Amino acid sequence: MNKVYRNLNEILTLEGAVRKDGRRLLPEDLCLIQGGAVVLENDLIVWVGKTSELPINYQSYQQIDLSHHVLTPELVDSHTHIVFGGDRAQEYADRLNGVSYEEIRKRGGGILLTMNETNQASIEDLFESACRRIERLYSYGVGTIEIKSGYGLNLDKEHAISRLIHKIKKHFEPRIKIFNTFLAAHDIPISFPSSADYVEEVVLPLLEDLSKEKIIDAVDIFHEKNYFSSDDVKKVFLLAKSLGIATKIHADELNDNDGASIAVEFESLSADHLLKVSEQGIGALASSRTVATLLPGTAFFLGKALAPARAMLDAGVKVAIASDFNPGSCHCDNILLIGSLAAPQLRLNQAELWCGMTLNASHALGIGDQGAIVPGMKARFALFRAESLSHITYSWGNNLRVNFP
Ligand code: NIG
Ligand code: FE
Repeated sequence: MNKVYRNLNEILTLEGAVRKDGRRLLPEDLCLIQGGAVVLENDLIVWVGKTSELPINYQSYQQIDLSHHVLTPELVDSHTHIVFGGDRAQEYADRLNGVSYEEIRKRGGGILLTMNETNQASIEDLFESACRRIERLYSYGVGTIEIKSGYGLNLDKEHAISRLIHKIKKHFEPRIKIFNTFLAAHDIPISFPSSADYVEEVVLPLLEDLSKEKIIDAVDIFHEKNYFSSDDVKKVFLLAKSLGIATKIHADELNDNDGASIAVEFESLSADHLLKVSEQGIGALASSRTVATLLPGTAFFLGKALAPARAMLDAGVKVAIASDFNPGSCHCDNILLIGSLAAPQLRLNQAELWCGMTLNASHALGIGDQGAIVPGMKARFALFRAESLSHITYSWGNNLRVNFP
C-alpha cells in the first residue's frame, strides 16, 4: 500500500544521528522537519521532506492528513522482563523502610520470590498478563520490545517461557516486533551449590536446545557479585558464539565487575545498567559497536546513583535508554516517562535522548533498518498529538501518543 503522511507539525528524522552512527550527537542531529511529509511504499520509507515540496509523482498515493501531530520513529524498549507472575509490592515497602535490594535477596526475596510466583502461574496466565503489559507499552509509542525470560530458573519452566515469548512474538507481529532473549542466568535457586553448577546443569543445555529450536534472538546473563561470575559469563558466551547466538549482559550494575570489557571482548549487542562502569569499561565500549543501555528507572526505583552517562556519551559510546520493566527493581513500563525524568539528571541533549529510545535501542537488538525516518528504513513510527517534539517529553507523565487515523 502506497501512502503519504502530510502536514505534520514536526517529523523527527534523526538523519544526523544515522550519519554519525548514534554517537557524539548534537541537538541539530535530530534533523526535525516542520510541516513535514513522509511517503511510504508498503512498509518502506521512500521520501521525507516538507509537504510543500512533495514530488508530483506521489500525489496519486493515498494522502493522509496529520495536521497537529508529531511523527517520530517508533520507540524501542530494548530491555524488559515482562513475563512474570505475582508482584513485589511488599519488597518495595521493605525497601522504603530501609532494607536494601541486596539484603532482600539474602532473605530469599527478590528475583527468587518472583521465580516462585512465576512457577505457580500457568502458561496461559503468563501469556495473558504479558499481552496486557505489551499493549500498555504500545500505548506509549513502543512498537519493538525485547523480552527476557528469567523467572522460571529451572529446565522446564525456562524452556516453557522461551517458547511462550516466541508465541507472544507470533501473536503480535507485524504490529509489534518482539525480540526473544534467554535469561535463565538471572539468579541461582538455592538448591544449586554454586552459580557454576546452575550454569552447567540448566543454562548451557537449555541454550543448546533453544538454539536447535531457533526461537531465541539472544542470550543474557546477570553478571554480578553473588550472582554470575566472569567465568560463568565466558562459558555462556563461548557456547553462544559457537551456536551463532547474539549476547547481551547485565553489567556493572551494583559493582564494577569489568562487565563492559567482557561485553566488548565478545562483541555483545549491548551491556546494560552500567551504574558502576569503570573508565576502562567506558573506553572499551567507545571503541566498539556494543551499545551501552542505560536503565535510569531502575536506579531511580532502587535509590542508586545514575550511570555516568555524560562520560560515556563524550567518549563516543553508543547509548540507548530502556525501561528494564520488571516486578522488582523497576516496576515502571513507561519509557517516555523514564526518559523525560532521566534526561536532565543524565544531562542528555534532546538528540541523545530520542536516539537512545529509537535508533540506538534498535542497534541494541541488532536491528539496522529502523529507528529513524529516512528513505530505506522500515515504516515503523509513533504518532503524537503535540505541537512539537519538545512538547512530548515536556509533558512528562502525560501520554500524548495517539493511533493513526
Ligand atoms: O535488570 N538485575 C537483574 N535483573 C533485573 C531485576 C529483576 C528483579 O529484581 O526481578 C534488573 O534490574
Ligand atoms: Fe534487567
